[in-house]
Amino acid sequence: SMPAWNWLPPRGTEPGRAPTMAAMSAALPAVLTIDGPSGSGKGTISRAVAEQLGWHFLDSGALYRAVGLAASWSDLDLTDGDAVARIAETTEVRFVDRPGDDPQVYVNGVEASAELRTETCGATASAIAAIPAVRAALVEKQRSFRRPPGLVADGRDMGTVIFADAPYKVFLTASAEERAERRYKQLKQKGMDVTLAALLREILARDARDAQRPVAPLKPAPDAVLIDTSGTPIETVVARVLALVRTHPAPVRA
Ligand code: DC
Repeated sequence: SMPAWNWLPPRGTEPGRAPTMAAMSAALPAVLTIDGPSGSGKGTISRAVAEQLGWHFLDSGALYRAVGLAASWSDLDLTDGDAVARIAETTEVRFVDRPGDDPQVYVNGVEASAELRTETCGATASAIAAIPAVRAALVEKQRSFRRPPGLVADGRDMGTVIFADAPYKVFLTASAEERAERRYKQLKQKGMDVTLAALLREILARDARDAQRPVAPLKPAPDAVLIDTSGTPIETVVARVLALVRTHPAPVRA
């Protein structure tokens, strides 16, 4: 039988102890975190899941992209961590929903949706996202999206850092080749001039930088459900993620 020293009461329920973060989070609106590398289908899948659940949506990558864009507008040296952190603290980002389309994003009042999606902006975002003070400046902003009835949070560190207490966590992966191909189709559709080889190179470089940075690197949370989306239609992945949330309607975090 189980030795006595091996027994612990469920975390957060010990008498006379302050409740743990996990126990307290039961009172907070639910969060589903969807992390993964660029091109894993995260954006499309997260948005579809949020829509079907009727939950709020946080595109955390857009915040990093907006900070990168605002920094480039003000002609900053992007390696000046303190200066970029000040931009992160002061940049105002506003999302305006459009039915049937990606939301419009305003950066300091300027409509910048198209510019934010460019590869240049993605690369800048990835570079400034490695600055710890920039990440710190965005923590509260990201957490403020957690409102009833729930939140779907898309990013790199949603499940590991920002919403580490989330009851639902998914980590999406796909081969770099497949991700480059998806990106290629997306960008071509938008009339952008790109090559598959260049996209693959950029994706591999971005993955390496996002995964190797010392602060909040791209990696699955220990309690995340891993889903490889290679060769899988978007609807199938969306259905799997929805099933994950719906089959555990009232998660008990012990
Ligand atoms: O998801 P995305 O491609 O829009 O993100 C752009 C960059 O922003 C990504 O390369 C790394 C950074 N990022 C981050 O560091 N943490 C997040 N939660 C989201 C994005």
